[in-house]
Amino acid sequence: MPNDHSIDIESVLQEERKFPPSAEFSRRAHIKSMAEYEALYRRAAEDPEGFWKECASELFWFKPFSKVLDWNFPWVKWFVGGELNASYNCIDRHLAGPRRNKAAIIWEGEPGDSRVLTYQMLAGEVARCANGLRSLGVKAGDLVTIYLPMVPEAVIAMLACARIGATHSVVFGGFSADALRDRINDAEAKVCITADGGWRRGQIVELKRSTDEALKQTPSIQKCVVLKRCGNRVEMRPGRDLWWDELMGPQKTVCDPVSVDSEHPLYTLYTSGTTGKPKGVVHSTAGYLLHTLMTMKWVFDIKDEDVFWCTADIGWVTGHSYTVYGPLAAGATAVIYEGAPNAPENDRFWQIIEKYRVNIFYTAPTAIRTFIKWGEEWVKKHDLSSLRLLGSVGEPINPEAWMWYHKVIGREKCPIVDTWWQTETGGILISPIPGATPTKPGSATRPLPGIAAEVVTREGSAVAPNQGGFLVIKRPWPGMLRTIFHDPDRYKHQYFEQIPGVYTTGDGARCDDDGYFWIMGRVDDVINVSGHRLGTMEVESALVSHPAVAEAAAVGRPDELKGQALMCFVTLEGRRKGDDRLREELRNHVAREIGAFAKPDTIRFTDALPKTRSGKIMRRLLRQIAAGDQTLGDTTTLEDLSVLSRLREDEE
Ligand code: WTA
Repeated sequence: MPNDHSIDIESVLQEERKFPPSAEFSRRAHIKSMAEYEALYRRAAEDPEGFWKECASELFWFKPFSKVLDWNFPWVKWFVGGELNASYNCIDRHLAGPRRNKAAIIWEGEPGDSRVLTYQMLAGEVARCANGLRSLGVKAGDLVTIYLPMVPEAVIAMLACARIGATHSVVFGGFSADALRDRINDAEAKVCITADGGWRRGQIVELKRSTDEALKQTPSIQKCVVLKRCGNRVEMRPGRDLWWDELMGPQKTVCDPVSVDSEHPLYTLYTSGTTGKPKGVVHSTAGYLLHTLMTMKWVFDIKDEDVFWCTADIGWVTGHSYTVYGPLAAGATAVIYEGAPNAPENDRFWQIIEKYRVNIFYTAPTAIRTFIKWGEEWVKKHDLSSLRLLGSVGEPINPEAWMWYHKVIGREKCPIVDTWWQTETGGILISPIPGATPTKPGSATRPLPGIAAEVVTREGSAVAPNQGGFLVIKRPWPGMLRTIFHDPDRYKHQYFEQIPGVYTTGDGARCDDDGYFWIMGRVDDVINVSGHRLGTMEVESALVSHPAVAEAAAVGRPDELKGQALMCFVTLEGRRKGDDRLREELRNHVAREIGAFAKPDTIRFTDALPKTRSGKIMRRLLRQIAAGDQTLGDTTTLEDLSVLSRLREDEE
């Protein structure tokens, strides 16, 4: 996987500013100083198993574990022999005390409707849904696909699966019918839960229509549960389709939680990698839940009185870990917002923060850059004084965006936690501790306790400070993925055979003299468009599935707003010539195959793609062309890119 990008790993960012947390923040924080962080880090490094054993007492166990770690490289088991239930940990254990009537979820729909679910109310809804799923024959070990908008029922459905030991597979509502079909088939899901539609910028996203399309070719699906959200007309297929309300309404509001093994798969979540086929990342129950819970404390400094808002969609890992499992395991109050940040106007987020007095706000750099573009006046209209902590995730945050976030949203009072992690890591691995770590704009700072992160060469030896290299994790941690669904070889190969003996993240990074990590982005063929992770190979296979396309290469190019934009080089079948109409058709074709978020920003037709003598597409060259690398001269008029490749072949 580490490919020719390695040559490009050269760090240019020089950032000298440092922002320590205020004395007031530190005084009240769970971790109050660097000394405290260092001690915790040292303790975890010296005795990892003892450390995680102690942490594990924060979970509620039906049966205690007998062994902390079983590491048979690269296969891992944490908390061996233990039994628990994730939904019990996220709900029931809070019902015995004062949290019973605390808001678990504060939800706001895009049209302005809202709903609050206390922990007690959530318990009832989850039980109802769990019983409903059971009545359809869903049992421990079955897979349930969830394809819903950002509504409370998405959380309810996830927890209901966990309650009965079923494994959920949430598919982001922005994915197309084809993408949904592939994910259902890979998971061999028995039941699909969807909605008539969801609101997005005043429009209805017709989820049931896409689901119908997908279910034409999904032999494993027996039932489809449909939530009524928008009231748009949908077709209900007799025998297969059921309305959520009719199924769940009559069910009992109690449901005994199934006691599952620590390693029982809580969920699979499909993510993009370096091949055309997305991979189903499998997460465990105990290790995953513990990791999300601990990071809620360490990184988000969560307190009982906080209102916590993570803006990520539940269809991505950030939504799983920091809207659902982390906050609820911590007994926190989580805000969920259904729609777009500019619906009806550009200040919707600030309005929500003011309305619910949000204390902790967690979003993506691409969103921050969009807010900068929209202008401060939208922010100024609202009182954001409730905010005490800000977070960022999904891509490197450029120092300009960091400073704006700090000044305009944080009023120079809120620490910023730039959290580095991945779908595969389950939870945050590298991040400031808000009451302890002096932050530097653009750096995710230091690894969390128990996380052995390092920057190494392709051979695995440590690089000197300030030198770029591959970011790896040298020891297992509880929240790490356990395998790729149906594809253990890929798990082994992708993550543990690239660089000997360690977990390879696929990111490049450097460490500065203070031991701070600066993430430099992916070093494989994965790109990050507006915080959405996308495999370039996936886009390429979508393109070549169009009859006009002979060959395609997709690369990322730097984009001020999106972080990276998607540029595709396409050669056509026969003598066909490309024009704007075909260009548009191909863009729509990719949207249909994957989802609108994967629509190429630019398509360039070319007579040939630059290749090495062995026939490998010279992606680095294409990336340079896409980025408008001056040293290449003006290549935009070069129809036949193979000319260029002949010139540059020796360098690859
Ligand atoms: C990137 C999202 C820099 C990185 C949680 C990683 C980041 C990929 C950061 C995972 C950050 C995430 N700074 N880069 N704070 N956070 N990334 O699986 O390239 O959607 O490998 O998980 O996002 O994306 P994924």
